[in-house]
Amino acid sequence: MTFGRHLLDEWLLDPAITYLNHPTVGATPRRVLAAQRSIQDEIERQPSRFLLRELTGVIVGAWRPERPRLRVAADHVASFVGASGDDLVFVDNTTTGANAVLRSFPFEPGDEILVSDLGYGGVVLAATYAARERGATVRTVAIPTPYSSEGIADAFEQAVRPRTRLAIVDHIAAEAAIILPLADIAARLRRRGVFVLADGAHVPGSLALDVPSLGVDWYVANLHKWAFVPRSSGFLWVSPQRQAALHPAVISWGLDQGMTMEFDLVGTRDPSPYLAAPAAFSFIDELGGLAAIHAYTHDLSWRGAQLLARRWGTPFDTPKVLVGSMASVMLPSELGSTREDVAHVRDALLFEDKIEVQVHVTRESLHARVSAQVYNDMSDYERLADAVANRAARANRIGSSA
Ligand SMILES: Cc1ncc(COP(=O)(O)O)c(C=O)c1O
Repeated sequence: MTFGRHLLDEWLLDPAITYLNHPTVGATPRRVLAAQRSIQDEIERQPSRFLLRELTGVIVGAWRPERPRLRVAADHVASFVGASGDDLVFVDNTTTGANAVLRSFPFEPGDEILVSDLGYGGVVLAATYAARERGATVRTVAIPTPYSSEGIADAFEQAVRPRTRLAIVDHIAAEAAIILPLADIAARLRRRGVFVLADGAHVPGSLALDVPSLGVDWYVANLHKWAFVPRSSGFLWVSPQRQAALHPAVISWGLDQGMTMEFDLVGTRDPSPYLAAPAAFSFIDELGGLAAIHAYTHDLSWRGAQLLARRWGTPFDTPKVLVGSMASVMLPSELGSTREDVAHVRDALLFEDKIEVQVHVTRESLHARVSAQVYNDMSDYERLADAVANRAARANRIGSSA
């Protein structure tokens, strides 16, 4: 399989837009959407039967010998991430799964939740809320730059205090776009008696995963970012020892019937994204499998980041081993340094230059987080490089004539 712009035909993405922001909300391939639609059609033929009798094990009518459809889908997803289906439940998204863990955890007054300054804001706020409800606190560890695996793991370990009960560790940081050495961090934290909630929102489909071997207590992730599953679809893997104390953020009929029963029925909802997961995995196979996809996207991401930094005259000192399918590259200082500048640059790139890319401010510098998907190639990076360089040159001319 050759990768590149011709594969855009496999998506509904507007070909007029250079799309370098695949993971933010995901983009579902046409054939996976078609599979999802046929599942929805099947549901609509006998909605009550499908949703109340066949979907979950929370029984309406006589007991049925068949494995509930959601559990069959969970088995597929579990085998995609090296796990057992009985340890995995579906959640709408990473935020929902993280809320379930944080709001089930028995924090006591004075306890501490450890997060890092690479942590995803929405999940950090969920931690802040859970802590506030129980008289606990959230402490943020600053990760030293330039980033290195050892430096990141040391920073987490050294931040542990006697009352640190739980740490949230992002597996791939959303804005810095670096891969954290999760297994090493988890081993060090668990040795100090700290429970580990891993936020793998960006990981399934972007890195090979064997979740149980990571040594974490909970692993929450999205399938709709890199794994081509329709949104909204996330999963929460839970180590067997942590399952009894866990409850979904929304309580319904499955209460006290075991983890999978509690999470499988959380009110009426559309299960078609989860049930379409096998179609997404088949598409990955048709593309040549995860290893082939990663070989392409990791290489493109790395070469693309080098190109952007060279063209913009900004430093890119992230070690290659920390770069997956996306990279965060500093923008020229002429484009500003504030949150207002972020909004302006991001809108200008989309509405004037027709490039969708995530822009953020970190340590007072604007950065572009650029993602590499199978439908991207170096020409997309060239277009972004030119658009930003032109904007910086214009800002420079305006600055010097002012
Ligand atoms: C690291 C990380 N965690 C959590 C999330 C939240 O994902 P969702 O909005 O699907 O819950 C994101 C979204 O980009 C993320 O990057």
